[in-house]
Amino acid sequence: MARNGFPGEGGVADGPEAVAASTVRDAGLAPAGRLKVEWAEAHMPVLARVAGGIAQRGRMRGVTVGICLHLEAKTACLALALHRAGARVAITGSNPLSTQDDVAAALAAAGPRVYAWHGCSPQEYRSFLNAVLDSRPDVILDDGADLLALLHAERPAQAARVRGATEETTTGLHRLRAMAAEGVLRFPVIAVNDARMKYLFDNRYGTGQSAWEGILRATNRLVAGATVLVCGYGWCGKGVARRAQGLGARVLVAEVDPVAANEAVLDGCRVRPALEAVGEADFIVTCTGNRGVLRREHLERCRDGVVLANAGHFNVEIDVEGLRALAESERTVRPAVTEFRLRDGRRLHLLAEGRLVNLAAADGHPIEIMDISFAIQALCLERAAGRVAETAGGGGGPEPAGRVVPVPEEVDLEVARLRLEAAGAAIDALTPEQGTYMRSWR
Ligand SMILES: NC(=O)c1ccc[n+]([C@@H]2O[C@H](COP(=O)([O-])OP(=O)(O)OC[C@H]3O[C@@H](n4cnc5c(N)ncnc54)[C@H](O)[C@@H]3O)[C@@H](O)[C@H]2O)c1
Repeated sequence: MARNGFPGEGGVADGPEAVAASTVRDAGLAPAGRLKVEWAEAHMPVLARVAGGIAQRGRMRGVTVGICLHLEAKTACLALALHRAGARVAITGSNPLSTQDDVAAALAAAGPRVYAWHGCSPQEYRSFLNAVLDSRPDVILDDGADLLALLHAERPAQAARVRGATEETTTGLHRLRAMAAEGVLRFPVIAVNDARMKYLFDNRYGTGQSAWEGILRATNRLVAGATVLVCGYGWCGKGVARRAQGLGARVLVAEVDPVAANEAVLDGCRVRPALEAVGEADFIVTCTGNRGVLRREHLERCRDGVVLANAGHFNVEIDVEGLRALAESERTVRPAVTEFRLRDGRRLHLLAEGRLVNLAAADGHPIEIMDISFAIQALCLERAAGRVAETAGGGGGPEPAGRVVPVPEEVDLEVARLRLEAAGAAIDALTPEQGTYMRSWR
């Protein structure tokens, strides 16, 4: 059910549990974490403005928010903003390698309950998710839907009491839409990923820059003149390909959707089936949200020295076990680089165990990008929290239970306006005549 590698052991009682104190690696790391959070906060003006409004309206006061997100500095800023608006926050990391222990310590020292450490085992990951659920969240913010899947699979009575949730990423929405289609989902989930102010910037420019930041930090290799294969030309893939072109690479794309493939062609990429393209590539980056994109038959054809990285949500895009089976030896050659030596001497370099490279080998998206995404998250959580009040006396409410619902247009537009202001940009307004013209047919 949850995809971050935890085995399906041990059910959890559906009764009241004691809320545990924070579980972090080392509380003494808090001062270093605080510096990181302060640095991020100074570059998140949109979240600050939005959070000010939320605090003033008071709708988050006393609301318990359960969060599963990559636990690094920008996420800490969001958690603190909610905490300052009066919410009780319980948070864990959405990936075993993206949690930064110093940030987790700083956040725990500031008030929110934190259950996370870097490199947690599958069992620990699962216990951290359960610790967040033990806090009895009224609303939930998830990234990849591990928390929501666990809640629905193992705590159905508790799920029925949750007001609503928000989901951060494409893969999480695939899973939640599957749950809704099966009639399993118990409350509305706002599709934050699908807001225009989210995927156009976070998935494209965020992943575009930060995936390369992770690859370059991990390898210190030259991209100019190299051949880069991008698997998946969706919003993330477009960003990764564009930045590779900017760094001077020749870009190949592998796709399964003919429309996305045409877009790649017109963007100046060569489109080939993955099986054919892998043999030409110096760097391969998977960005599909799908499993088994690089399988044994692909890995067998890779060049000596190839760098293999994944920017999709889960570590299922590169078949790491298949790679292991092909290799005669395996060793860590740099902090986030595992070298697999094949029997004919070729070396294949896997980054961050095939987990999303921008968070496992770097700090994730640039701060200004997460300023936008988390401003949307904060406003959507406020709406989700208000659901019970809005629907008092009437069943169902304005948003149907058990559905994935879009981010309200006014949220997208408010965040867009605030971001423009922060960027020192300004736009025109339609004249009354233009408005009328656009709405008329004569
Ligand atoms: N690294 C990050 O920080 C980050 C940020 C946002 C999203 N994501 C994740 O990245 C993944 C992609 O997200 P997106 O928003 O770009 O999704 P998307 O739906 O826009 O794009 C995915 C593309 O992959 C293609 N695809 C699917 N299976 C394929 C296969 N076997 N071979 C080749 N192409 C294939 C699809 O046709 C589609 O064009 C998801 O897992 C998402 O959750 C990661």
